[in-house]
Amino acid sequence: MTTLTDDLLGQLLERARAAARAASELLLSPPTDLAVEAKSTPTDAVTIMDRRSEQLLVSFLLDGREMDGVLGEEGADRPGTSGFRWVIDPIDGTVNYLYGLPGWSVCVGLEYEGDPIVGVVAAPTYGVTYYAAKGMGAFRETEDSTEPVVPSTVTDMSMALTATGFGYAAPRRAFQAEILRELLPEIRDIRRAGSAAVDICWVADGKVDAFYEKGLNPWDFTAASVVTAEVGVVLAGLDGREPNPDLTIAANPELFAKFHDRLKALGADSPV
Ligand code: IPD
Repeated sequence: MTTLTDDLLGQLLERARAAARAASELLLSPPTDLAVEAKSTPTDAVTIMDRRSEQLLVSFLLDGREMDGVLGEEGADRPGTSGFRWVIDPIDGTVNYLYGLPGWSVCVGLEYEGDPIVGVVAAPTYGVTYYAAKGMGAFRETEDSTEPVVPSTVTDMSMALTATGFGYAAPRRAFQAEILRELLPEIRDIRRAGSAAVDICWVADGKVDAFYEKGLNPWDFTAASVVTAEVGVVLAGLDGREPNPDLTIAANPELFAKFHDRLKALGADSPV
């Protein structure tokens, strides 16, 4: 067993922040040819920069910590023996990246014995990095300042600006559109910015009031989950489940309960 002192957590957070910074710098200078390949469907893209960013993150994070595990969107997967596992998304929002749109992010999360303890979500095209360590608060860092993040106090669904995202397969997208058709008249509005990790950090930071999505993977939410946990935002699935691919919702506790019940009634977690 390792004791998670503030000192150790601080060091691990610094490692995660430095890795996300290095990956962000790499990604801000893309080559002309992104060597795009399709993954699950023709619109689910991976670029050479997703792979390079993942390679950089893995070697940076494991340098001197060779016993740690790692799980990455582009294939990194080893259990490790230290109890620590890095969960990374080298580009969350690859479609934004491909189109030269802002808002993609680099996610570096760290779990100890399965519990998320450090999270960094860097969105360099917004000039923002969100970061948190368990018990040490959650922060928004820009070039000019570092501020604690504060979620919104909206508790009425009809006033909730709500972020979401859609999968890559046509049947799932059709299903998600049906859920949204029901929900849209009941909420303030929708934002679909293109990076689930940023969406979740935006809930923590009061930039949106709520988030839900079907189809998320651990690399999409692990880093952001530390940011939400530190400010009392609930990030979870239905019926007390952890965030999961069937459905993940984020909001302050009172608003979460309302989204939870409505999305459950709509069957938004159905297997599609
Ligand atoms: C995607 C983004 C997007 C979300 C998708 C994710 P990727 O991640 O987070 O916002 O709607 O569900 O898969 O594929 O760009 O890493």
